[in-house]
Amino acid sequence: MKKTFSFPKNFKWGVATAAHQIEGNNIHSDWWHWEQTPGRVKNNERSGLACDHWARVNEDIQLMKNLHIKQYRFSVEWARIETAQGVWNEEALKHYKEELALLRAAGIEPMVTLHHFTLPFWVAELGGFEWHGFAEAFAKYTEVVYEAIGTQVIDWITFNEPMVLFAASYIAGVFPPQKKGSLQSLQVPMVNLLKAHAKAYQILHARAKQASVQARVGVAHHLRIFDPACAYHPLDLLMAKISEDFFNWTIPQALRTGQLQFYVPFLLSMNVSIPDLAGTQDYFGFNYYSRDFVKFSFRPPFFKIKVPATAPKNDLDWEIYPEGLNRLLLEIHDRYPDLSISITENGIADAKDSQRIKFLNDHLWQMAEAMKAGVPVEGYSHWSLLDNFEWNSGFSPRFGLYELDYVTMKRIARPSALVYAKIVVENQLLTGQETRS
Ligand code: BGC
Repeated sequence: MKKTFSFPKNFKWGVATAAHQIEGNNIHSDWWHWEQTPGRVKNNERSGLACDHWARVNEDIQLMKNLHIKQYRFSVEWARIETAQGVWNEEALKHYKEELALLRAAGIEPMVTLHHFTLPFWVAELGGFEWHGFAEAFAKYTEVVYEAIGTQVIDWITFNEPMVLFAASYIAGVFPPQKKGSLQSLQVPMVNLLKAHAKAYQILHARAKQASVQARVGVAHHLRIFDPACAYHPLDLLMAKISEDFFNWTIPQALRTGQLQFYVPFLLSMNVSIPDLAGTQDYFGFNYYSRDFVKFSFRPPFFKIKVPATAPKNDLDWEIYPEGLNRLLLEIHDRYPDLSISITENGIADAKDSQRIKFLNDHLWQMAEAMKAGVPVEGYSHWSLLDNFEWNSGFSPRFGLYELDYVTMKRIARPSALVYAKIVVENQLLTGQETRS
């Protein structure tokens, strides 16, 4: 029997990108400096011109129009806006202002991220997220951004994926500043990020109120499914639960209570009160990609992550697990029933576009099932509009609905782009259009 699901009329279909990954020539950023040393990014690639989006905003907004999307999630680049401490780049601000005007003219609502993984190099030199002046500097940047474009934006994201950023930067050592510390070493950067978020939240609301416009402020969390490697092994179960609690819920809980709190004997102990932080999340934004199986290990940090050999995987070997989206939506709603939810990223590295259509349909059906069960999902942004610079993995992973020919910079619609556009236009899902079992 054919099944259909119709989305609410105002459902925010979107796509997501991030400045450093697409704009090109982000020369004042920590990433730009870091990439110049060989051995850090796969195949020694550098972001360089990236997708040359800075010069092709018009063309890329046309791609969005072709998809008929209602919302575009993108980030403004602190390193471009404040090239040195207190030195503000009016031209960059003007550029973003014009981009917002073009989006509005195209009927596309912006969702603006203030920080997506990169820092100005001068901030990194002062210690980045470990610098005691971080929150204050971020607050100044937020003020300047609001002054330039604030009244054109309702939906804000202060930080993208704090936990991925910190795990990659301070534990795995695969993002700048490339440290290999303990879980406990995350406390200082986490506290500074939360302080910065709290300040930005207050500023965005105060300024919007003065201008008599609306502002909604959130974070793009990265949530994963953590299942035990062996469902009957009590230590696997325990470590999966600890991993989930720490990675998925520590930051959302801090935003709710104002308290950064986590305690596991011999592993981790955090208990810090952050001024003005409680209640600073107007909607729950999250990115969903995959699942981890957690196995107990005798060596610190006492667990290992496994992906079963037989699981369906994307080009980066991440498990494709659509049910995870449904599980997380139900869990978020259970924990935060007062918040509406926005899926701020979901996508697949699939150069051949051989799995993306099924991926899209399967994930959207899982989202639809959650909505049927009463979960208030307000929007879905696919990652990504076009292939881009995938951080330390370089240019080879292909997440785009549009393929990028990096020689000619031509954008080419993949078949999945047409499928996504059809779903958006019809505002419904229909079984039989997809390959869901
Ligand atoms: C990040 C993006 C990244 C994507 C795919 C997310 O973790 O926010 O910047 O490109 O995942 O890896």
